[in-house]
Amino acid sequence: MQIITSISELRKLNTTTALVPTMGNLHAGHLSLIKQAKSVAEKVIVSIFVNPLQFAPTEDFTTYPRTFEQDCEQLEQIGVDLVFTPKITDIYPNGMDASTYVQVPNLSNILCGISRPIFFKGVITVVNILFNILQPNKALFGEKDYQQLFLIKRMVKDLFMPIEIIGMPIVRETDGLAMSSRNNYLTTEQRATAPILFQTINNIKQKLQAGERNFAELEQQTITKLITAGFTPDYFKIYRTDLIIPTPKDNKLVILAAANLGSTRLIDNCQVSSL
Ligand code: PAF
Repeated sequence: MQIITSISELRKLNTTTALVPTMGNLHAGHLSLIKQAKSVAEKVIVSIFVNPLQFAPTEDFTTYPRTFEQDCEQLEQIGVDLVFTPKITDIYPNGMDASTYVQVPNLSNILCGISRPIFFKGVITVVNILFNILQPNKALFGEKDYQQLFLIKRMVKDLFMPIEIIGMPIVRETDGLAMSSRNNYLTTEQRATAPILFQTINNIKQKLQAGERNFAELEQQTITKLITAGFTPDYFKIYRTDLIIPTPKDNKLVILAAANLGSTRLIDNCQVSSL
């Protein structure tokens, strides 16, 4: 396995690749993306870059878990060809404030974009930069970050980028909690409560499949349940899979939730298509 830290060294390579962009602290969710990447491309690149542009000053940029050595051991074992781990100054040579950025309008300002107004600007910009540097043919992202994946697909389409974006199913713990690096922040008590988020999503999925269509009431009931369970909900929404507010006739739906347990933000979602 080769590790490259400079863009000029990287430019000397010329291979067909799939990219799995990450912020490190790899778990089974990341590994599922990498396994799939290996099956759809000749060479697999994993980028590890904790992107400061997508964190608000109040968020966990400095404390975000950085486990480079362990990550590399896992990547070596799974047979990744190349790990790209640039410095902040490589990605933003003019400084973050002066750098060109990329933004997907409207859809960046709903759901997670309301409480995290700079998040998608940071994500879309860094993904764009990574695509330009690494020039992959394919890139893989987890469906846990449904809105992120949707916006990346939109950017690639809008900017005519010759890259296939592949979304991969959420990988869950045995009790249903969606895997995330931030799960490590949870106390024992919070960890025991955390699976309730997915349980409430499943519960609403069943109600939608049974034909219930009062979306606002279902959303509000669930918010109340989450508060009672100890969460501070950010949102619990039923949208069309294309992130438009649905009418009762729509049948391709996605349930999206974000809620805090203490200071840890959890997100999850589930698509409901067979009604
Ligand atoms: O999902 C993530 O880990 C990050 O948002 C990403 C896509 C690697 C961009 O920094």
